[in-house]
Amino acid sequence: MYDYLIGGACNFAVDREWAERAIERMPWLRAAARSNRAFLRRAVITCAEAGVRQYLDLGSGIPTGESVHQMARRVLPDSRVVYVDNEEVAVAHSMLTLGGETGVGIVEADMRHVTAVLRNPVTRRLLNFEEPIGLLMTASLYYLPDADEAAAMAARYKSLLAPGSHVVLSHTTLDQRQRDMLELGAVLEMTKSLTSSATPRSREWIAAVLDGLEMLDPGLVYPSCWRPDSARPVDDTPWHDSMLAAVARKA
Ligand SMILES: C[S@@+](CC[C@H](N)C(=O)[O-])C[C@H]1O[C@@H](n2cnc3c(N)ncnc32)[C@H](O)[C@@H]1O
Repeated sequence: MYDYLIGGACNFAVDREWAERAIERMPWLRAAARSNRAFLRRAVITCAEAGVRQYLDLGSGIPTGESVHQMARRVLPDSRVVYVDNEEVAVAHSMLTLGGETGVGIVEADMRHVTAVLRNPVTRRLLNFEEPIGLLMTASLYYLPDADEAAAMAARYKSLLAPGSHVVLSHTTLDQRQRDMLELGAVLEMTKSLTSSATPRSREWIAAVLDGLEMLDPGLVYPSCWRPDSARPVDDTPWHDSMLAAVARKA
């Protein structure tokens, strides 16, 4: 569904049907998904410009449009990426699309199983935890229904990162006075019948995921407000954004 929303070609009739149903409830859902993906691109480029050349992408989804390794390699062509997802179709697509790519690996795992992710031979081969890593948790942490478990998992990954590492986070929130509040609620309700259901969380909870790290400017903001490409001023509360996003650095 997400791939369809952001304009990718790796989706099935059932994805399109459900995505269209979601769009009926929240017509700007596609803009929200694209805004998240564009944030991810700007954030990865920022990490690469800071010298990060390896990434652990938790809940990576289906490789679509520009993938994370392509984003990073715009700046550092030798960048390595481990994609982690627990959804078998996303993993199968990733294998098909990225299988032959050097410096790129796919791990089929639940990101909550931190030890399994880290001990996976693909992770061990591609990532060196003595060096800075870009830990990506975009549009994925909210699929973990238990807030304490999600926070503990993020804390565990964070604790393993070397200085100079960056954490890239985007997370659905309902903690805002946006006109899509009720409609987003309806879409989130709908996701309860899908393989992954989404749990929105407060600004405070989302900010706490990055505790102990140095927040990069402009802090925790709507994805389209995070270092926008365009010089055009961005509204403080863009009507289509339903997430909060940030990049933070480990000192
Ligand atoms: C909306 S996509 C986000 C893709 C990408 N991170 C982005 O921001 O463009 C969320 C992905 O998280 C994956 N996911 C959900 N729960 C997960 C879990 N417990 N472990 C690993 N992946 C998970 C889903 O299968 C889905 O592919």
